[in-house]
Amino acid sequence: MQNEPTPKPDKSSARILIVDDEAAQMKALCDTLRDHGYITTGFSSANAALAGMGAQQFDLVLTDLMMPEMDGISLLRRALEIDPNLVGIIMTGEGTITTAVEAMKTGAFDYILKPFKLSVILPVLARALAMRRLRIENVELELRIGKRTAELEAANKELEAFSYSVSHDLRAPLRHINGYAQALSDDSATAFSEPARRYIASISRSVDRMSTLIDDLLEFSRMGRAEMHQSQFSMGDLAHEVIGEMAGDIHSRNIEWDIQPLPVVGGDRALLKQVWVNLLSNSVKYTRPRDPAKIKVSCAEENGEWKFQVQDNGVGFDMRYVDKLFGVFQRLHNVEEFEGTGVGLANVRRTIVRHGGRTWAEGKINEGTTFYFTLPIRK
Ligand SMILES: Nc1ncnc2c1ncn2[C@@H]1O[C@H](COP(=O)(O)OP(=O)(O)OP(=O)(O)O)[C@@H](O)[C@H]1O
Ligand SMILES: [Mg+2]
Repeated sequence: MQNEPTPKPDKSSARILIVDDEAAQMKALCDTLRDHGYITTGFSSANAALAGMGAQQFDLVLTDLMMPEMDGISLLRRALEIDPNLVGIIMTGEGTITTAVEAMKTGAFDYILKPFKLSVILPVLARALAMRRLRIENVELELRIGKRTAELEAANKELEAFSYSVSHDLRAPLRHINGYAQALSDDSATAFSEPARRYIASISRSVDRMSTLIDDLLEFSRMGRAEMHQSQFSMGDLAHEVIGEMAGDIHSRNIEWDIQPLPVVGGDRALLKQVWVNLLSNSVKYTRPRDPAKIKVSCAEENGEWKFQVQDNGVGFDMRYVDKLFGVFQRLHNVEEFEGTGVGLANVRRTIVRHGGRTWAEGKINEGTTFYFTLPIRK
């Protein structure tokens, strides 16, 4: 056995375990590699090498294949059980493809045919060590991502709970304000001046508006926490169902629907129905000044996803504010012109993201709008 401390230890240099039953060869290799900046430890017996691994950590094992006590492949298998981060390289004089293949299956990174030249060994070592570093960095990265994701999920849950309880608690005082405003307006015909009556009416309107906002916020929060119930269903049927349910509200409108064939998808039917309700009711709402209004729904397969689109010839919007559209309470049109609270598209985005898809929009003022969403294709 040879176990010499390296003369010039370097933080960055790798620790190499060299095992070869021919002691002279092992020693020569230890010396040569040490001259090239590696920290080398050599053993002429496989068992001694395994025992040595208990006392010291290594980055790479360079082992002979044919050895009396234990062959290099078995040694590598046992070494990897002790330290899964090790990279192994087999040195073989046999030079048969089958041993090399077997060595790779065991987890060897590479093999070197004996007798070898230094110019062959050095690049193989460098490659193996670079691969080991990458592997370790990957594991660390995955751990970090996992931790971050867990933190984000916890923060999200906390925010959800917060917004739920805040909106819930806001309802009681609002009911009070509403009750007293109501009581005042009941008396107002005689007791109050004309301006005072207007103020009271204005308070009532604001309270109504705030109630709607709070209800929608609660609904948004409820939908985000709703459990998903997966099934397979036709998006075409779903879209037609939603349009059918809107019929009562739009009978006085002249709307030309163009519903192209839509695929069967997997997902939560109730949540995806809300997506159609929001997108189609938006198209209906924001085409109100058009006669005829034109609303087209279609879908195409693109890069392994379904890409759905809802296009209308309505009032459109200014692309400068496209980033705002999907945010809670974000509206690009005022409530006097087009009623609404601005949570519809926030719900759409959240549902689509929960299904593994994306959402975006394109619009031009006075020329119409197209909304897009994707869903993964499950074969
Ligand atoms: N089809 C459309 N054409 C033009 N602008 C649209 C269209 N759909 C949405 N928008 C713009 O995006 C904003 C956000 O839409 P969203 O559906 O979230 O809210 P909303 O329709 O105003 O209210 P509600 O919460 O009742 O849905 C709208 O206020 C409007 O300015
Ligand atoms: Mg809407």
